[in-house]
Amino acid sequence: MKNTEYDFQTVIDRHSTNSLKWDLFDDDYPMWVADMDFMVAPKIQQTILKRASHPVFGYSIVPDSLFEAYISWWDRRYGLEMSRDEMLYATGVMPSISSMIRCLTDVGDEILIQSPVYHVFFYVIEDNNRKVLENELIFRDGKYEIDFDDLDEKLSEVKMMILCNPQNPVGKIWSKEELGQIGELCKKHDVILISDEIHCDLTDPGTSYNPFMTSSDYNNTILCISPSKSFNVAGFQSSVVYTKNPELLEKIRTQLHVDNSDSCNVFAVSAVEAAYNESEDWLEELKEVIFENKQIVKDYLENELPVIKLVECDATYLLWLDCTALNVSSKVLSEFLRSNQGLFLSSGSDFGQIGDGFLRLNIACPPKLLKEGLLRLKAGVIALNNINRMSKNIG
Ligand SMILES: Cc1ncc(COP(=O)(O)O)c(C=O)c1O
Repeated sequence: MKNTEYDFQTVIDRHSTNSLKWDLFDDDYPMWVADMDFMVAPKIQQTILKRASHPVFGYSIVPDSLFEAYISWWDRRYGLEMSRDEMLYATGVMPSISSMIRCLTDVGDEILIQSPVYHVFFYVIEDNNRKVLENELIFRDGKYEIDFDDLDEKLSEVKMMILCNPQNPVGKIWSKEELGQIGELCKKHDVILISDEIHCDLTDPGTSYNPFMTSSDYNNTILCISPSKSFNVAGFQSSVVYTKNPELLEKIRTQLHVDNSDSCNVFAVSAVEAAYNESEDWLEELKEVIFENKQIVKDYLENELPVIKLVECDATYLLWLDCTALNVSSKVLSEFLRSNQGLFLSSGSDFGQIGDGFLRLNIACPPKLLKEGLLRLKAGVIALNNINRMSKNIG
């Protein structure tokens, strides 16, 4: 472990903070939802404490300085130039996607997503009375690829595609070529593309993701970005929508307003600005720690639990574990690990039926916690095998 300026080692008790991860269920090792267990970047905490020391908490406005923080971050890190008047504030990526579905498609329309993918994409489409059309990724030689023939065919049936870039849960950075090809196909079929880039900063050290908008010149594209994942500030519920298409921009602006999703809470601006303007070095250290955690999992599985294979990935702190050799559905496996070991990993089938046989493991926690989780994973797999063996013998 390299020396770090920031503390990523201390295990923090998050119980009784109304934490979704720690307080909703009583699992000892919740390693499911995409929420990190590290202390936040000190500058963010200091800025929040400073704002909290002012004793009035009325309504807030979204100042230009918030948009400037986003603009500067994407320009200096990813070479994407955004302009203030093409950006909209929203109370989170999913609220904004929900609004966009309502204003840019009609009830009954099909919307394309690439499974296995973030499960809330399914819900947000279905809850808005639209239909999911899946372009399933191909899993070949331990890696995921896009089935472009299938994509071409299915895009002819939809008005909208929601892209996850980089992809949750498989942790894949889409290449410029792949993104360019998606743009070409969306242009061919006149499909509005939403590119959800919420996981963009969390790549392996030394690698970078590709913004859709620097990879394709397709104009009917909407970018969703937020510091929620990179800095673990999802609790402030804040994001930005960006599009260069003025017609789309105006429709989205109106819908966000109708949905009351365009105003911010009193701490959001301070948190976002402290993240993007003052916490970049913290993020770079975090990436190292996540990468080391990934190595811990890789080594552990190879040496102690080779029946489970880690799917190679270069982004996100969510690892996709290939458990197909266990010959059990991922729902059964996930439930068994919870009841037998108090270990909660997401079931792969939550991300589309094609994810069955896989588990998603969140490794954004101090190594001590992660190692305990891995011990429990092994103990759970052994216990499940023993039960299966016994029942076969009995049968
Ligand atoms: C791909 C993706 N989009 C959106 C979200 C949620 O974003 P928000 O909390 O801003 O609605 C997540 C959370 O895990 C995610 O993985």
